[in-house]
Amino acid sequence: MDKFFLVFLLGLLIAAHGVAGNVSCKQIGMLEELGSLDIEEEEENDVELSEIPSWNSERGAKVLVNVDSFGAVGNGESDDTEAFRKAWEVACSTPKSVFLVPQGRRYLVNATRFKGPCADKLMIQIDGKIIAPDEPKNWDPNFPHTWLDFSKLEKTVFQGHGVIDGSGSKWWAASCKKNKSNPCKGAPAALTIDSSSAVRVRGLTIQNGQQMNFVISRCDAVRINGVQVSAPGDSPNTDGIHISESTNVVLQNSKIGTGDDCVSIVNASSNIKMKRIFCGPGHGISIGSLGKDNSTGIVTKVILDTAVIKETTNGVRIKTWQGGSGYVRGVRFQNVRMENVSNPIIIDQFYCDSPTTCQTQESAVNISEIIYQNISGITNSAKAIKFDCSDTVPCSSLVLSNVNLERQDGSVETYCHSAQGFGCGVVHPSADCLSSDDKIAEPVEEDIRHTEL
Ligand SMILES: *[C@@H]1O[C@H](CO)[C@@H](O)[C@H](O)[C@H]1NC(C)=O
Ligand SMILES: *[C@@H]1O[C@H](CO)[C@@H](O)[C@H](O)[C@H]1NC(C)=O
Ligand SMILES: *[C@@H]1O[C@H](CO)[C@@H](O)[C@H](O)[C@H]1NC(C)=O
Ligand SMILES: *[C@@H]1O[C@H](CO)[C@@H](O)[C@H](O)[C@H]1NC(C)=O
Ligand SMILES: *[C@@H]1O[C@H](CO)[C@@H](O)[C@H](O)[C@H]1NC(C)=O
Ligand SMILES: *[C@@H]1O[C@H](CO)[C@@H](O)[C@H](O)[C@H]1NC(C)=O
Ligand SMILES: *[C@@H]1O[C@H](CO)[C@@H](O)[C@H](O)[C@H]1NC(C)=O
Ligand SMILES: *[C@@H]1O[C@H](CO)[C@@H](O)[C@H](O)[C@H]1NC(C)=O
Repeated sequence: MDKFFLVFLLGLLIAAHGVAGNVSCKQIGMLEELGSLDIEEEEENDVELSEIPSWNSERGAKVLVNVDSFGAVGNGESDDTEAFRKAWEVACSTPKSVFLVPQGRRYLVNATRFKGPCADKLMIQIDGKIIAPDEPKNWDPNFPHTWLDFSKLEKTVFQGHGVIDGSGSKWWAASCKKNKSNPCKGAPAALTIDSSSAVRVRGLTIQNGQQMNFVISRCDAVRINGVQVSAPGDSPNTDGIHISESTNVVLQNSKIGTGDDCVSIVNASSNIKMKRIFCGPGHGISIGSLGKDNSTGIVTKVILDTAVIKETTNGVRIKTWQGGSGYVRGVRFQNVRMENVSNPIIIDQFYCDSPTTCQTQESAVNISEIIYQNISGITNSAKAIKFDCSDTVPCSSLVLSNVNLERQDGSVETYCHSAQGFGCGVVHPSADCLSSDDKIAEPVEEDIRHTEL
């Protein structure tokens, strides 16, 4: 067992013997080392952002592969897909190459797979703007889930001041969330990095995703720094950064505003660290959803440290479907400032994002060891803290430490259903409704089941 969990378990062992309510903060002190996840942040400037490599064929130097040299026009109207494909083939097969999308132009590119493995030390320098064709009717049916899809890369850097724009407005209008008479079918993600390891992404802007903006799936060791993600607050399902089946991911210094979760972390992901994040508008920072259609969902070791969450429907959220299995364990949300957030702290084990109603079931994803520390600010709903857990699988070891949420015009309260844990230090609204780990809260009839469409 690693240090992380030893310290964690020790702390929780002590915590479990405390009572609900105001427990000595010394116990939380035991949990303090949780912060030292075994993944490190990136130094601010360990590689100059956008250091434009110069053309040089000498040994040791970078080899520039400019899409313009392969016939890209960059006027926003000509189809530059073929030029990008050809440039990729050359860049990917040439050691130390730089796939360059030069600045000052707009490249119209269809759905494309940029497949590895590639030769050593590939860099993808995006300084110009890449735009997607905007008509869903003409979308290549071979690419239902992706637009720019990078896969099987190793030790690759994406950087630049460029923009990846999914031109999503017609996709949003065609969504069943916008108009119930539309069929419910998915749309492509703007940028996907799949099945890759040791990848860095710096400085890029990703916007107007057809659906999700930036997906990281089946990856290990990803560093994302100084990225901006934006889509309108009312665009459906446009998650900012979606992390799936990935490990050792650090996301830092990034600003995300969308119509769905700013960050969503789903199945088979662990060691995820988010640091200095601005989120809003959107649905907040989410773990989940997990457990849909009776599936197994496992997410462990997630840290959000230092964030501003502004004008969002949720702040920090864990959402699971009834009927799922698996667990969410070892999560710390800390040093978060909430500004005008509807549900600043929420666990929702009755998540239902489906046009049909969802039944309560026996099985659920098990949520435990979740710490909320130094979280303050303004809620715009009365239930500032909601722990709505499954009757058969209660949430356990929920810890609130120095949490202070206020509402401008009214009182605030904590809602607990089948939730065990304790508070420490200032906890407002109070953590009194959490039951200690040996007794389960009385079931309460409530109209709190959410359907989020
Ligand atoms: C790109 O998509 C358009 C439709 O939007 C299609 O007409 C065109 O042939 C595609 N180009 C390539 C290179 O696939
Ligand atoms: C919803 O879609 C239907 C069918 O496409 C269309 O007739 C209707 O005008 C749309 N409603 C709105 C509000 O856009
Ligand atoms: C969750 O991840 C595990 C491990 O990668 C995988 O076997 C399983 O199919 C995933 N479940 C879902 C619902 O994707
Ligand atoms: C999930 O399991 C429940 C209980 O066994 C069953 O009623 C339901 O049909 C299942 N749902 C799906 C989508 O498989
Ligand atoms: C609490 O969080 C706020 C907001 O992120 C931060 O400014 C402050 O320094 C934190 N306090 C402590 C004691 O870490
Ligand atoms: C808070 O957000 C709501 C919408 O969620 C908005 O109507 C209201 O003006 C905001 N209040 C402040 C003080 O920003
Ligand atoms: C949920 O996980 C906790 C912590 O690991 C464990 O004590 C508890 O028994 C689990 N609950 C169920 C219903 O499996
Ligand atoms: C709760 O804990 C805080 C910090 O340790 C302390 O200042 C306060 O007096 C305690 N309140 C109660 C009711 O014990």
